[in-house]
Amino acid sequence: MAQTPPTRLTIRRPDDWHLHLRDGAMLQAVLPHTAAHFARAIIMPNLVPPVVTGAQAAAYRDRIMAVLPEGMTFTPLMTLYLTEDTDPEDVAAAHEAGIATAVKLYPAGATTNSASGVRDVTKVRPVLEKMGEIGMPLCIHGEVTDHDIDIFDRERVFIEKVLHPIRKKIPDLRVVLEHVTTQEAVDYVRDNPKNLAATITTHHLIINRNSILAGGIRPHFYCLPVAKRERHRIALVQAAVSGDRRFFLGTDSAPHTDAAKLQPCGCAGIFTAINTMSCLAEVFEAAGALKKLEHFASLNGPAYYRLPPNEETVTLVKGAPLDYPEIIETGDGPVTVFDPGFPLHWRVETA
Ligand code: DOR
Ligand code: ZN
Repeated sequence: MAQTPPTRLTIRRPDDWHLHLRDGAMLQAVLPHTAAHFARAIIMPNLVPPVVTGAQAAAYRDRIMAVLPEGMTFTPLMTLYLTEDTDPEDVAAAHEAGIATAVKLYPAGATTNSASGVRDVTKVRPVLEKMGEIGMPLCIHGEVTDHDIDIFDRERVFIEKVLHPIRKKIPDLRVVLEHVTTQEAVDYVRDNPKNLAATITTHHLIINRNSILAGGIRPHFYCLPVAKRERHRIALVQAAVSGDRRFFLGTDSAPHTDAAKLQPCGCAGIFTAINTMSCLAEVFEAAGALKKLEHFASLNGPAYYRLPPNEETVTLVKGAPLDYPEIIETGDGPVTVFDPGFPLHWRVETA
């Protein structure tokens, strides 16, 4: 007899291992959407100016907690923005004091607010060696920035030219290759089990480059790294649903106002905080892997970051297509919510 497909799924409360909360009015508008579903998140430091020092990270954490609505629980896990002037001792002290969970490496010019990022990796070697020594993870935006490298090849080339050499020189460094978008990145992570893991975003499991460019240009699907061919999306889904401990959720939910996205040179970033869990449930269900959603969203991340998984649970319930806003209003202007292109039947049941 055919089994009835499940309509309820209880998992440990998920975490988001890569999130942009921004600051000020935008922070205040987007934070409740993440805190509604996620217990913790790795908070990206690419503010203007960037969060470089332990003191800046502590102040940013305070600003986040100050606008967390009453009754919500959420723990921001702060990161430091790596520059060529970063002081290894400041990094170690911030980690030791529990202020900074990880450091973020942006190659200079790779993405939004990355101008103060790293141009020459040899300059940050003392910081990376220190992090290897103390076991502090390095989150990497893995794309080269050379103008002569095609944008669809920038992740693959980064792995070969930058990531692999760093890992060979500093084998103790615990690396998270962020928002992987290619089969090559998935293979590299699978083939190199030591001190290496990867986050995968919600949107890269759903869109490919046609979503952005075929039949009209769709700025709301533009993000970095840019979505690749369908075969890469399929490789990402296979990695995510496999349960492999080294792949976990980092939404890279990155709100920009519509005014910033819809212009001749629009910003990169997709806002998925509101409907990520519903989107993921659809993706995992379609792959016949609902049971692995907990590994991807709630278990693998804490294991790699050497933190306990959350004790609380959330229940996803399948029913009529979900109503969620197409746009949220923020003090900075409207922000468009990710449209996966199909109805979402799973909602997160709040206790
Ligand atoms: O699409 C992106 N948006 N990719 C990034 O790396 C940065 C992010 C942002 O901050 O908007
Ligand atoms: Zn990001």
